[in-house]
Amino acid sequence: MNRQLMCVTCGSTYPLEARRLRCDCGGLLDVQIDMDSALSPEALAATFESRLPSHLPQDLSGVWRYRELVLDLPADDIVTFPEGRTNLYTLNPTPLGLSALWAKHEGENPTGSFKDRGMTVAVSWARHQGARALICASTGNTSASLAAYGARAHLPVFVLIPNGKIAQGKLAQALAYGAHTLQIDGGFDDAMHAVEQMATQHNLTLVNSLNPFRLEGQKTIILDSFFQLGNMLPDWIVVPGGNLGNTSAFGKALIEMKALGLINRVPRLAVIQAEGASPFARAAQGDFQHFEPMQPETVATAIRIGNPVNYDKAVRAIRFTNGIVTSVTDAEILQAKHDLDRQAIGCEPASAATLAGLRRLTREHVVHPGESALLIITGNLLKDPDTTIALATGQTAALGVQGAPSLDACANQPRHVPSDPETIARIIEEELQ
Ligand code: F0G
Repeated sequence: MNRQLMCVTCGSTYPLEARRLRCDCGGLLDVQIDMDSALSPEALAATFESRLPSHLPQDLSGVWRYRELVLDLPADDIVTFPEGRTNLYTLNPTPLGLSALWAKHEGENPTGSFKDRGMTVAVSWARHQGARALICASTGNTSASLAAYGARAHLPVFVLIPNGKIAQGKLAQALAYGAHTLQIDGGFDDAMHAVEQMATQHNLTLVNSLNPFRLEGQKTIILDSFFQLGNMLPDWIVVPGGNLGNTSAFGKALIEMKALGLINRVPRLAVIQAEGASPFARAAQGDFQHFEPMQPETVATAIRIGNPVNYDKAVRAIRFTNGIVTSVTDAEILQAKHDLDRQAIGCEPASAATLAGLRRLTREHVVHPGESALLIITGNLLKDPDTTIALATGQTAALGVQGAPSLDACANQPRHVPSDPETIARIIEEELQ
């Protein structure tokens, strides 16, 4: 399929190979697909299906399997682990009065977050274009993912992260995979501003979601879900919102799927932000007439973002899907994480914002009884061991979250026991009483 870059603000176009992050007018760029050259929906579905038994890396990948709708690249240029093809779990919908509730676990990707779906495309394209070095700003997961894909592509990686504000599992990954790790005095928004300036001036390839190729990969979360659910999508797709890359990618995926005839009915997007980092939710209240960045603070460090770069694309996604944006407190996020963890759909705090948001939206009669919903679980439980252990052991006070749920009653403390089998067996019997 033919592709070019197109500005979402003024409609100017550039060749796909143009090494630019924004339009001359400052607008965000899309990878625009020429729909006229697309296959029929039946032929597309059959092509994707035909790759399932294959053992070629580009077919095993739950991103490149959909390459007609992602990017055409020679197989040798593709940098893949492979990623995608994450599981979609059924949750009990009854407590929320829904007809069905699913969780798509993007924490099952190779580096434990959805970022891998975008990163395989951005890094493959960067290598194809002969990139010198790769760079990103990150609240943690993007840096972990880039570190891994950069190592696989044999390209130098630089990551800028907020000092002391990223979860340990993510920092461990960036360091272990050999990324040059720069901890800045400032938050994600400062890091994002710095990398965008430097990338253009110093010939570094930026792979944050400002890079439109990232979003082409992240569209496959929707494609994967559609085929896993038997060629359908639910009434609601619920996703946490930070830099709004997923929101933008999901909107684009749904616009394209509708135009291609893969879907007739468009599901509604529900974007959930943490109350302390909710500039998009605030803008939504005024129908996006006004946007005000904010100083972010939340226990969900992955979405501790006050000035999301993908704002314009995210507004398009909400408008196209008749979507909704809301926010939840850190206390609600922790309660939801606890509840998901206990069902072994473990996740990091940002991902739990989905369940917290869905609860709020059903309470507020935005989501109605009998409707169906899909939660996008964005990151793995092991990413944030500190929060996870505090929550599991009932030490929520240690997290400094106002109104944090008291989970003493279900605290799961490890017990120190002697090593003789008889004593251990007696303890087990007591527990089984
Ligand atoms: N959930 C997790 C686990 C994340 O890591 C992120 C973003 C989001 C949700 C929000 O997604 O930005 O597409 O709205 N993490 C980025 C990072 C910012 O640097 O890892 P978004």
